[in-house]
Amino acid sequence: MTLNKHIHIVGIGGTLRKPSTSLLALQAALSAAEASGAITTLLDLRTLNLPMYNPEVDYQDYSGNVHQFIKTVRQADGLLISTAAYHGSLAGVTKNALDLLDFLPRRDGESYLHNVPVGLIATAGGDQAAVNTISVLVQIVHSLRGTALPLAVPVHNAKSAFSQDGRITDTKVAVRLNKLGQLIVETAGRFGTKPAGVG
Ligand SMILES: Cc1cc2nc3c(=O)[nH]c(=O)nc-3n(C[C@H](O)[C@H](O)[C@H](O)COP(=O)(O)O)c2cc1C
Repeated sequence: MTLNKHIHIVGIGGTLRKPSTSLLALQAALSAAEASGAITTLLDLRTLNLPMYNPEVDYQDYSGNVHQFIKTVRQADGLLISTAAYHGSLAGVTKNALDLLDFLPRRDGESYLHNVPVGLIATAGGDQAAVNTISVLVQIVHSLRGTALPLAVPVHNAKSAFSQDGRITDTKVAVRLNKLGQLIVETAGRFGTKPAGVG
């Protein structure tokens, strides 16, 4: 779709586990976003290896990977966040990355993820926690002044939703991730342009 040509969708996700089901799910949604005409960037938290957020440390004193992380998120027209259910909530590596978004610039009363739509994905070992993980992510996105999409993808029994070689074997999950990828591009297009100086 020509209309969506310049939409930039950034995916933040995966755990430190390899292979990570939440990373596989994120990659599927990003592929769908690309098929809808967006350009995409994957921020794989395992390879990014971000340090712990520390409010005592100034932004300029963090390493280059934190700067790259913040710069890439600033350029996003839409975000996809994918994590794993850990003890009924979200994986610490994801929470830490989201805490680092405190370094996103604030201007004119517009904070953090203002005007940025966010699609959410969570994988879980059981058949309950993924929904709660999504709910927690919605709260976090709202705290960051982002807009959570009305469609999210909780993946229950994640082990049986993916094959050993990383393919999605659960058709419902594949369809939903595909829809999410399309929706984030469509919504980001409706949200319009980034503020001046961002990009
Ligand atoms: C520390 C830890 C805590 C977990 N807690 C839960 C949980 O509360 N509920 C659940 O359904 N699965 C739980 N799981 C299982 C993971 O959610 C599941 O394996 C998920 O697919 C992992 O995602 P990943 O492959 O991206 O690492 C837990 C796994 C770990 C390692």
